[in-house]
Amino acid sequence: MKQRIAICPGSFDPITVGHLDIIRRAAAMFDEVIVVVMVNANKQSCFSLDQRVEMIRKSTANIPHVTADSYYGLLAEYAAEKGAAAIVKGLRAMSDFEYEFQMALTNKKLNPAVETVFLTTSAENMYLSSSMVKQIASMGGDVSDFVPAEIHRDVLQRFQQRSESNEH
Ligand code: PNS
Repeated sequence: MKQRIAICPGSFDPITVGHLDIIRRAAAMFDEVIVVVMVNANKQSCFSLDQRVEMIRKSTANIPHVTADSYYGLLAEYAAEKGAAAIVKGLRAMSDFEYEFQMALTNKKLNPAVETVFLTTSAENMYLSSSMVKQIASMGGDVSDFVPAEIHRDVLQRFQQRSESNEH
């Protein structure tokens, strides 16, 4: 039988417990889930592409049929390359909707074979974003509830390095 592949794309700078919740739920719906770190031209990243992929690998190691990858290019092309049936994204508030809707329509135009599926975020992750995590961590706040336990140290180390380099 044909494997149903889903792609979970994003910046994942870094992966949060909100992302992980969506990935887990996607893994329950599809045969295989590829979490792909894409380059978002509108955002400057804090972690390198490789670091982000590695953090996803660590965080999803115990979820069967989930792999991590990175791609520089169009999501619609990546989805075609992988023969994906769906792009899965989490939707938080209405404020996410307009941008996500625009991306979904663009991706449908570029690759009509792939559907975008939105999963509503779990209520406890409604407010959570990678930007919030970075802001809190950069001020020395506690992000342990917001990032997967497997990467908590990596996030702390990154911001420790940053504050050390700012001291010089
Ligand atoms: O986590 P993000 O930053 O909201 O994810 C956005 C992302 C990376 C999925 C989006 O910017 C993307 O797909 N970038 C790849 C380039 C592309 O395909 N652009 C056209 C889609 S509108």
